Amino acid sequence: MRKNSLKIAPSRKPKSRVSLALAWVLAGYAAMVTLGHAAGSGSAPSDGQVQGQIQLNNWPQQHSPLPRDAATEARITRLLQQMTLEEKVGQIIQADIDSVTPDEVRRYHLGSVLNGGNSAPNQDNRAHPREWLKLADAFWAASTDRQGGRTGIPVMWGTDAVHGQSKIVGATLFPHNIGLGAANDPALIRRIGEITAKEILVTGQDWTFAPTLAVARNDRWGRSYESYSENPELVGRYAGAIIEGLQGKLGTPDYLGPDHLLATAKHFVGDGGTADGIDTGNNLSSEAALRDIHAAGYPPAIAAGAQVVMASFNSWHGQKMHGNKTLLTDVLVGRLGFDGFVVGDWNGHALVPGCSENQCAAAVTAGLDMFMAPNTWKGLYETTLAQARSGELPLARLDEAVSRILRVKIRMGLLDQVPPSQRKYAGKYELLGAPAHRAVAREAARKSMVLLKNNRALLPLKPGSKILITGDGADNIGKQCGGWTLTWQGLGNRNEHFPHGESIYQGLQHALIGSGGTVQWSDDGSYDSKPDVAIVVFGEDPYAEFQGDRPHLDFSDDSALQMLKRFRQAGIPTVAVFLSGRPLWVNPELNQSDAFIAAFLPGTEGGALADLLLQKPDGSVGYDFSGKLSFSWPNDATGRELNVGDADYQPLFAYGYGLSYQDKRTVATVSENAGLNLTSNDNGSRYLIAGKAVAPWQLQLIDGDKITVVENATQVSSLGAVTARAADRKQQEDTVIIDVRSKSLIALSHGQDRSIDLVENSNAGMALELEYRVLASAGQPARIGLACGTSCSRFIEVGPALKQQVGTDWHTASIPLACFAKAQQETGNMKMNHITSPFVFASDGAVQLQLARVQLKPVSADAVCGLK
Ligand code: BGC
Ligand code: BGC
Repeated sequence: MRKNSLKIAPSRKPKSRVSLALAWVLAGYAAMVTLGHAAGSGSAPSDGQVQGQIQLNNWPQQHSPLPRDAATEARITRLLQQMTLEEKVGQIIQADIDSVTPDEVRRYHLGSVLNGGNSAPNQDNRAHPREWLKLADAFWAASTDRQGGRTGIPVMWGTDAVHGQSKIVGATLFPHNIGLGAANDPALIRRIGEITAKEILVTGQDWTFAPTLAVARNDRWGRSYESYSENPELVGRYAGAIIEGLQGKLGTPDYLGPDHLLATAKHFVGDGGTADGIDTGNNLSSEAALRDIHAAGYPPAIAAGAQVVMASFNSWHGQKMHGNKTLLTDVLVGRLGFDGFVVGDWNGHALVPGCSENQCAAAVTAGLDMFMAPNTWKGLYETTLAQARSGELPLARLDEAVSRILRVKIRMGLLDQVPPSQRKYAGKYELLGAPAHRAVAREAARKSMVLLKNNRALLPLKPGSKILITGDGADNIGKQCGGWTLTWQGLGNRNEHFPHGESIYQGLQHALIGSGGTVQWSDDGSYDSKPDVAIVVFGEDPYAEFQGDRPHLDFSDDSALQMLKRFRQAGIPTVAVFLSGRPLWVNPELNQSDAFIAAFLPGTEGGALADLLLQKPDGSVGYDFSGKLSFSWPNDATGRELNVGDADYQPLFAYGYGLSYQDKRTVATVSENAGLNLTSNDNGSRYLIAGKAVAPWQLQLIDGDKITVVENATQVSSLGAVTARAADRKQQEDTVIIDVRSKSLIALSHGQDRSIDLVENSNAGMALELEYRVLASAGQPARIGLACGTSCSRFIEVGPALKQQVGTDWHTASIPLACFAKAQQETGNMKMNHITSPFVFASDGAVQLQLARVQLKPVSADAVCGLK
């Protein structure tokens, strides 16, 4: 369907980006910004009214595997007697290191800090590991200060080390969980946990927000890759192993000892089962499915000694988990025997009805023991203190929450610890990316790759083969690693940010040394002399959380397909290597390749692929494929739920499928009917969603003759005329603030320098729909338009309207595409069939816009040719 609906044709003369920008400048527009980002659109199901019913005795009755001991309990009682109310309230609040200073941790007695996905020492996501350790010491010293009678309880620092110590430059990064699921090897998972713990201890953190025990049932969910499997049985089998690896074996001195740290079982409960796979959405499963599918990882995690559970963003039958006492307390604590503490998710308490980021006694009463209040901690602290004083937050419950946190801190020895830099592994930077660690990551990557197709036994490749490698994933460690890598969404990472990593191409190069074989890299698939085989590495660009939600499962990017076709026409056998966070519909690519590997997100060890692909000089195979799908591979692109055990189970490749070199199976040509017919839902019509350009669209800042692609949370144009900054509205970073200081443009442009045909859309009455607000405007001329290549554009004046709209209100503007055909401000002949930027905003002077969304939608009743 992608072939027909979104007619992507090479744009006539994209030549260089600079020439395109210059053309606009010549046309008199100082800056242009293109937006093209979207997060799971579609109809967010309104949270159902019916509250799910829980029958407690339907849930397993477990007892905490850790008995409470008298000495610890006495110590907790003494501490509670000593602590002031302020100290107790501070203890249950966790702030983000980007929004709190060590001195504030001391003044407000905060019990914990975290670094969110985009937070780092000195706000530098590529900071040297020593900066992390230094900051850990500073927080520690502040929290343990006993001056003025402070109790001085050590702060604990949590981080999202979800596939290795993934915030740290140089760390060993393992495959994301979806790949680990394919490895089907709990012992390996335990070793990964052990290594991850050590690498975290190097930089002084106490706690990781892992493992994710989600059982992802709808692969449109942008967090599918954080899930080991759609199969609860596998998640259950891994849960204990990963907890044990991170924390050490319960009942031995290793448990929470110097080689280990605190893990988090998350997100309780139902995160992987929201309707339509919408992140933070509503889970409508039955109680039995909630228990048997979504909660499957928790009993084994608790049995292995898990001490922290993170409450989930999602609802169950309309009730937000952060406020669900039945599940957080009666089930988790009462039935499953959980004896640690429940931490909230990022401002997740604000989702509870009646709550806001700044106040939510209801979450605490429901069973939340620690608020994750990254940037909102101060207001929350003040309100919670007032609520504790007024009795709105019962003191007994506050004391209980504090006790639970203290109990865990005591169990992990934190109260008797030395400062972070004096601990066993602190500052041993040589452990980050240590060869022994990388060897395990390489083994994991090898075991995680699944061979879907190997017709005519093309693989393994003969010694001495002349290999061509191409595709945008071939030499791209950032793409191999996916989201939650150095940055939150995993964007902006370059190979140099992985000093110990290896791209797939580099791995092949190293492996071929001395073998007689050669590998040539090419960015567009061209070659000088004909190769024996072409390897095309392609796939999804990194994403995380809701920004990775999709309306369907069509891979939707044809560039690799075109190359595969060309190789085939030239008689060159092809190996497709697909990097992705989930199974996607890639039937056209499957048909055009002789061998096809689902590599998922293998992490820093790209060399794993060479281990599998290359025969040794004597013709033997070093490593065979052993990966088996832990997610069913879809037959069409609709994104309909497809899970092993379904009544009508018709996958393309079933759960557990995966070829080895022993299998001589030929995969026949597969249907190229994607099963989609909603053109309005593909990315030919979604340009910017939740403040981010939707691939293949890019948000570009155009300043003078230079284009800067927005890749980071804050991106400044080349000469500083315009800045794009991610900002929060309903969720974190779900909008972008365009801060124009002087004449410049922003544009949402096709990332592959192609164009789209909007003729039919225009005829069918579609409109460019914008959701935005105007934070400031000096009233200077400003325009919104479409661009159709070099010196080809149409603009509508919006300067005066923007000035009038300055304020806090959000607006939705519907500008019929037809308006642009009639637009006054133009360069070149409008070519609606050749749109290179479906949204351009040009301003002659200062203006500040906050944009949530830009997409095509049917013209609304009140649409005008402008903003109103
Ligand atoms: C995510 C969690 C994560 C937390 C801290 C949240 O948005 O849902 O999985 O641990 O942020 O970064
Ligand atoms: C993520 C954080 C991230 C933040 C950015 C949250 O949803 O979980 O880790 O840093 O958004 O605003």
